[in-house]
Amino acid sequence: MRKSVILFVCLCAPSMLLFGQNSSPRTLKEAYGGAFKVGCAVNSGIVSGRNAKALSILQDNFNAISPENDLKPEVIHPARDRWNFGPGDRYVQFGKEHGMFVLGHTLIWHNQTPSFFFTHDDGTPNSRDEMREVLRSYIETVIKHYDGKVDAWDVVNEIVGDDGNYRSTVWTNAFDGDGDEIVRLAFKYASEYSPGTELYYNDFNMWRPAKRDGVIRMIRMLQKEGIRIDGVGIQAHWGLNYPKNEYIEACIDSFATLGIKVMVTELDVDVLPISREGQVIGRSLNDPLYQLEEFEEYLDPYKNGLPPEVDRQLAERYSEIMGIFYRKRDKIDRVTFWGMDDGMSWKNGSPIPNRTNYPLLWNRGLDPKTAFKSVLDVPSLY
Ligand code: GLA
Repeated sequence: MRKSVILFVCLCAPSMLLFGQNSSPRTLKEAYGGAFKVGCAVNSGIVSGRNAKALSILQDNFNAISPENDLKPEVIHPARDRWNFGPGDRYVQFGKEHGMFVLGHTLIWHNQTPSFFFTHDDGTPNSRDEMREVLRSYIETVIKHYDGKVDAWDVVNEIVGDDGNYRSTVWTNAFDGDGDEIVRLAFKYASEYSPGTELYYNDFNMWRPAKRDGVIRMIRMLQKEGIRIDGVGIQAHWGLNYPKNEYIEACIDSFATLGIKVMVTELDVDVLPISREGQVIGRSLNDPLYQLEEFEEYLDPYKNGLPPEVDRQLAERYSEIMGIFYRKRDKIDRVTFWGMDDGMSWKNGSPIPNRTNYPLLWNRGLDPKTAFKSVLDVPSLY
């Protein structure tokens, strides 16, 4: 009798250790639950709930969602006389049903915003006064529509350039380059029309010291004027080889001094030539030239699958990046991946169209990649 008890304990103790309280986490929420929110950008396919596998991945792993496209101006307000809240409403409803932190993305942005925002019917440009009214009324209509339904909005997206000055865009040009006025008005109206919603600024290349400092100046300008801003989003469209980790760390530390939430909002890791070395913006690589047969092998090398060696590099890079976030978890409110599986990623089409990229944690069949497992392991390393 006693012998069998001893035998039982000997056999079971190791497995109790493995699968008991100390067992490894199986989902992102389990792994990072105590550290920060974990978000996923969703498209209408995921929101429809028709893909049961995607739905269960989302429910198991994430507690925040971002709308990949459905709350952008070109979807909500596609024509001067047309408003289209259907896709956005479905997104918001879906988020609430699944208990997610629901982000609105994005109000003032130069991309995916129809040209009629900036012109009269006859195509002549609006005056600066008219633009103030366009900005005000768009924010009023949209933010009131979602008041109490979304938890936060990216109020302004990507208005600062790599040198820290305002970029030349349809919005800034319409205000004679005075980005400060756009940002001031946007955050002022957003806070007036939706006082209970958190308001964020969101941008890419925030790790570049000059750009980061320009954004910090802009946020301090708002704070000095008593205009509410609640958070800053570091997009994080990164690569296997960039940015350097010390830049990422310095970026998080600098933003944390502002006394607002710091978030990583659009994380993906590019494994393909050119873009894995940096984020290429603009349309230069859209030229059909780069799709000629002679470039294909070099620019789109993994059409038939990700080689195990690159799969491993991706896992290591994700582990490194998530390690930084985990170590700085007291400064980070949320980390959102820009999509769930490789098949849905914008990285297949940008900056060069028609490539086969592998930037996310689940593969095209919605199976977890090596990178998923490496991300799960990160908290246990610290
Ligand atoms: C930016 C935007 C996102 C998305 C990505 C690329 O980062 O903020 O909404 O459009 O570009 O798809």
